[in-house]
Amino acid sequence: MEIRPLAGALGAEVIGLDLTGGIEGSAFEAVRDALHQSGMICIRDQGAMTPEDQLAFAAMWGEISIHPYVPSIEGYPGIMKIYDPNPITQTWHSDSTHMRDPHAYTLLLARVLPNVGGDTMFASATGAFESLSPGLQAALRELSAVHEGTSLAAEAGLEHEAVVAVHPVVRPHPETGAEALFVNDNYVTRIDGWTPEESRPLLKYLYGVIGRYENTYRHRWRGGDLVIWDNRSTQHAVVGDVAGEERVLHRVTIAGNAPV
Ligand code: SIN
Repeated sequence: MEIRPLAGALGAEVIGLDLTGGIEGSAFEAVRDALHQSGMICIRDQGAMTPEDQLAFAAMWGEISIHPYVPSIEGYPGIMKIYDPNPITQTWHSDSTHMRDPHAYTLLLARVLPNVGGDTMFASATGAFESLSPGLQAALRELSAVHEGTSLAAEAGLEHEAVVAVHPVVRPHPETGAEALFVNDNYVTRIDGWTPEESRPLLKYLYGVIGRYENTYRHRWRGGDLVIWDNRSTQHAVVGDVAGEERVLHRVTIAGNAPV
């Protein structure tokens, strides 16, 4: 097994691993460490994985989360089908931050890819925070933000209280201790105690920093790619340039803890 960096800011690829027969503890530890250091990893050549293999590997990362309203694929609770880019997946975000305990990890396995288009962008929220001045970093450490579920949650009949959470703007990573910006344009509606209008300029500035080229890596999918990202330290957004071709990825999310 070889682990190689994919970009300066974040990302690594893992070559020479076959997950169809499971994975040994020491190899899993190496992959897990690489993910915590790199924020996102791509394990190449996993096209032979069955849904059972994907669920078994996912379960090694923690408790598999069942989405409250997006159905799983037939027969495999916990595997969600991701297809066309849409306004939610195209906006920089980390997953389900409107939950009290947002997801820790997401595993996305390429099943059907377009010839071109549908790359996924990743950003280091840690690198973004580190690039700020000490003064702004200190000010942000004092703030929390209100995260609210999108209109999809309301349409699915979820009570508003079930899809609103207040999280610190700066989140220390539970494994590495590295601080990351933990605000995103999908779910954050305001800084806690501020109006949306007051919050917007600061949030817009922070989203701009997260999306700076030097904080990002653009993943061009290859058949068999199994990508895993750490929602505590990164954000992602899909590029919405798929022109009428099929794009199917199988997604599993792993439960996390409330940010502190
Ligand atoms: C997602 O936001 O979970 C999906 C990303 C993608 O479609 O590449």
